[in-house]
Amino acid sequence: MKAIVHHTYGPAGLLELREVERPRPADDEALVRVHAAGIDRGVLHFMTGLPYPLRLAGNGIRTPKSPYLGRELAGVVEEVGSKVTDLRPGDEVFGIGEGTFAEHACAKAAKLAPKPVNLTFPQAAALGVSGLTALQGLRDHGRIEPGRHVLITGASGGVGTFAVQLAAAFGAEVTAVCRTSKTDLVHSLGADHVIDHTREDLLGAQGKHRYDVILDLAGNPSLSRLRHALTPKGTAVIGGGETSGRWLGGYDRQLRASLLNPFVAQQLKSYICTEKREDLLVLKELCEAGKLTPSIDRTYPLAETAAALQHLEQGRARGKLVVVPLAPTTP
Ligand SMILES: NC(=O)c1ccc[n+]([C@@H]2O[C@H](COP(=O)([O-])OP(=O)(O)OC[C@H]3O[C@@H](n4cnc5c(N)ncnc54)[C@H](OP(=O)(O)O)[C@@H]3O)[C@@H](O)[C@H]2O)c1
Repeated sequence: MKAIVHHTYGPAGLLELREVERPRPADDEALVRVHAAGIDRGVLHFMTGLPYPLRLAGNGIRTPKSPYLGRELAGVVEEVGSKVTDLRPGDEVFGIGEGTFAEHACAKAAKLAPKPVNLTFPQAAALGVSGLTALQGLRDHGRIEPGRHVLITGASGGVGTFAVQLAAAFGAEVTAVCRTSKTDLVHSLGADHVIDHTREDLLGAQGKHRYDVILDLAGNPSLSRLRHALTPKGTAVIGGGETSGRWLGGYDRQLRASLLNPFVAQQLKSYICTEKREDLLVLKELCEAGKLTPSIDRTYPLAETAAALQHLEQGRARGKLVVVPLAPTTP
């Protein structure tokens, strides 16, 4: 099969399209024929090996332990491991696998769910990591409720475009932060108010507004700025925020939030999304109810995966980018 491979950490230009052996599913896995693979920002971290703690977490210190990239996927099950009882060859699925920038990939059965019937494969492939991150950030950590004032930074990105729709679906009053060229997009997703961070303060009019929940995905506002923009009992949920820091890559803010949290009335939280089928099923239901539609900027053939990653890295993506394999999609 064809797959994108990388043997050294570095820029997207080092990625190669190669003929490699098809993976074999472990007992608890399914082999999926990949019809589409979503790109989430985490892929850039695995590609570059930055920030460095990612290498120490078992991904290979000098060179990547696995040459394959890509986690989100949608496709058709071709084979299942001996312990998988709830999936069969022919099932259309979406979720999170390993090395999904390829014609086939393995995924734990527990990280797959039936593809929403009303979505295309590229749309379903966009849901995995980004959809779960948005859902859990707002529902579990932000404890969002109808009528709450919610601000979302990075609202035009992969996670943010899901978060805006979910916050609106939960009945919140949504303020979305993005750059000028993307304000139309976030409005169309259901944002009530839009802050253009190229023209005004990221958190709105120098902190004049107060929000019950801030889902912070970009821009790295300081903890004091976040707290200033929150109501006295408000919650800031830090999902991410890229910096060029090679050691901490912005995670120091998350660490400091955890340390400060016990001493303040507001809630300062950070989290890593939990990859579980239960929540993939929630996303599926929301999609089928018409409350959530993945916002796809562009799809790329497998051979152009590097171009897709460069597009994301340059901050040009509006919503999600998706890779589709070269070969025909029927077995
Ligand atoms: N906690 C977790 O488990 C988890 C899971 C997935 C992702 N993440 C993290 O969440 C963050 C967002 O991920 P993503 O996949 O949505 O990334 P993305 O698709 O690249 O979107 C990030 C958005 O940030 C905005 N942005 C960039 N620079 C900015 C600045 N200086 N000020 C304000 N906004 C800025 C961009 O929008 P504009 O062009 O409109 O400015 C961009 O759309 C990343 O840090 C990622 O690593 C965390």
